[in-house]
Amino acid sequence: MTITLGFDIYGTLIDPYGVTTRLAEYTDQYTEFSRIWRDKQLEYTFRRGLMRRYENFAVCTRNALDYTDSLLDTSLDDEAKQSLMEAYRVLPAFEDVATSLAVSKDAGFRLFGFSNGLQSAVEGLLQHAGISEYFEGVVSVDDLQTFKPNPDVYHYFLEATGAEPGNAWLVSSNPFDVMGAINVGMKAAWLQRSHIAVFDPWGIEPTIRIKSLEELPELIS
Ligand code: 2OP
Repeated sequence: MTITLGFDIYGTLIDPYGVTTRLAEYTDQYTEFSRIWRDKQLEYTFRRGLMRRYENFAVCTRNALDYTDSLLDTSLDDEAKQSLMEAYRVLPAFEDVATSLAVSKDAGFRLFGFSNGLQSAVEGLLQHAGISEYFEGVVSVDDLQTFKPNPDVYHYFLEATGAEPGNAWLVSSNPFDVMGAINVGMKAAWLQRSHIAVFDPWGIEPTIRIKSLEELPELIS
């Protein structure tokens, strides 16, 4: 059975902190701003999922931007916020991505993007990063109007790709996402993008831990 790989997008293939270049034009607190913005964006997806008050990932991203602007008192005007949201639509890929995707594709794996992001936003990011050619498709949780790590979205990934849980891998830098995939019987690779990242001590462990996507092809089976 062919192995199917679902790649998380933000934080795994695409660097959300790539927005700091644009942020630096508006505030010298750009490092703290980008961290709070990312954390609050994810918090909003968790809260909206639990509340069943779905708004898409772009709305969560904008709400988190507005929150961070208020918290840090940066007084960003609407033009600045529009500019930052535009920067979010063209974030860069991490350096190890293109090579490792090519090797994984050559190894005969089926590759999909799998994200909280809107399909159109993810396709735009992959296109802008020059890596969309490696993917058979993009699966977005927006189809289900909920977010990771709701088990439903991983079941949907399997259904949408026609993959069996035992032959389907999630590849993600986000522990909540890795645990969500393991929770439904998929295999999962935790990509430790930061040396200070800690995997949550819940006893739900990734199938493998990697520090670069280039480690992936020889470890997947
Ligand atoms: C994703 O791309 C939010 O990083 C998460 O689904």
